[in-house]
Amino acid sequence: MAYQITIRNTGHRFTAEQGQTVLQAALAADLVLPYGCRDGACGSCKGRLVEGQFDYGSYSQKALSDQDKGNGYALFCQGKPLSDIVIEAREVRKAGDIQVRTLPARVHRIERPCDDVAILYLKLPANERLQFIPGQYLDILLRDGARRSFSMGNAPHDEEFVQLHVRHVPGGSFTDHVFGKMKERDILRLEAPLGTFYLREESAKPIVFVASGTGFAPIKSIIESAFRKASGRPMTLYWGGRRPRDLYMNEIPVHWATEHPGLRYVPVISEALPEDAWTGRTGLVHRAVMEDFPDLSGHQVYACGVPVMVDAARRDFTALCGLPEEDFFCDSFTTAADKAAGG
Ligand SMILES: Cc1cc2nc3c(=O)[nH]c(=O)nc-3n(C[C@H](O)[C@H](O)[C@H](O)COP(=O)(O)OP(=O)(O)OC[C@H]3O[C@@H](n4cnc5c(N)ncnc54)[C@H](O)[C@@H]3O)c2cc1C
Ligand code: FES
Repeated sequence: MAYQITIRNTGHRFTAEQGQTVLQAALAADLVLPYGCRDGACGSCKGRLVEGQFDYGSYSQKALSDQDKGNGYALFCQGKPLSDIVIEAREVRKAGDIQVRTLPARVHRIERPCDDVAILYLKLPANERLQFIPGQYLDILLRDGARRSFSMGNAPHDEEFVQLHVRHVPGGSFTDHVFGKMKERDILRLEAPLGTFYLREESAKPIVFVASGTGFAPIKSIIESAFRKASGRPMTLYWGGRRPRDLYMNEIPVHWATEHPGLRYVPVISEALPEDAWTGRTGLVHRAVMEDFPDLSGHQVYACGVPVMVDAARRDFTALCGLPEEDFFCDSFTTAADKAAGG
């Protein structure tokens, strides 16, 4: 049985076929609602269920608490209508002409800039190119039907290789493979492009980027594209890691900051050891932002990396620094463990 979904705040209407989530139905109708993990773990797709019967699906309490649910919220990547429904979504966009495709890719080169990060350079078949909006991610499709998400670290114009920055999650089946048996010339299957973590170009507000660890990858893609477009919006990048070596491409933003007066770069280290001889900023990366920007009310923030950082940034920037919720954009690098936590 098909049900009609109405988005109250925009007037869009579309149909969900039997068993489709709200997000799947919207995408099938060429409408993009905000989303990240599509796994009930990150909370990016949270919106209001205004009217109708609903199957909330399976999700983590961190992404949707009982209190959220009591206040009328639902996760649209998991929830399925059981009647015609009316919802409110934070943002609705037309899909545009970039199609999500499945492609093979060959592992051309693997670099290991530090112990727990691998940079994969993937080569697509001749005459194929990956169209995407800077900041988006792809899914690696595994043989058992599982998928693993990684953000493109190259800008779309830098198209010779698709670059992925992969952090090793000990005990994780795919990243254990990347750090163990994966070798150059291996073939992967990809689905791309995915996600809504990209620059809102219609805004002129100054931008604060906050990355932790490999959360640098999509931000690198966004910033390199912004330079190419000469966007002119002032940008400040905070990149956090435990030790200086966690900022595995530090020379790149250092170079950007010398070449581009519109970009300021602040590396932040939380657990430096004496042998690191670290003299820069210390502490949690989102706290460094708050020290420098006690008032974020006129900014847009793009945060990416481990869920604990992204969640703290969203909570503290909106509650303590006056950042409007609609000016906070993120990709939270959730794993199976986050979905399982309190699910
Ligand atoms: C939109 C998005 C973009 C991302 N982009 C990047 C990126 O650019 N770079 C990057 O490094 N990461 C990125 N990530 C995170 C990345 O997808 C994960 O780190 C990756 O999927 C881990 O895969 P894995 O197979 O190694 O681990 P998994 O096998 O998925 O396991 C992850 C962890 O969970 C544990 N675990 C597995 N199953 C369970 C269970 N049922 N209960 C409890 N614990 C369990 C494992 O032991 C392990 O510690 C992104 C994530 C998202 C959602
Ligand atoms: S996209 Fe729905 S919880 Fe992550």
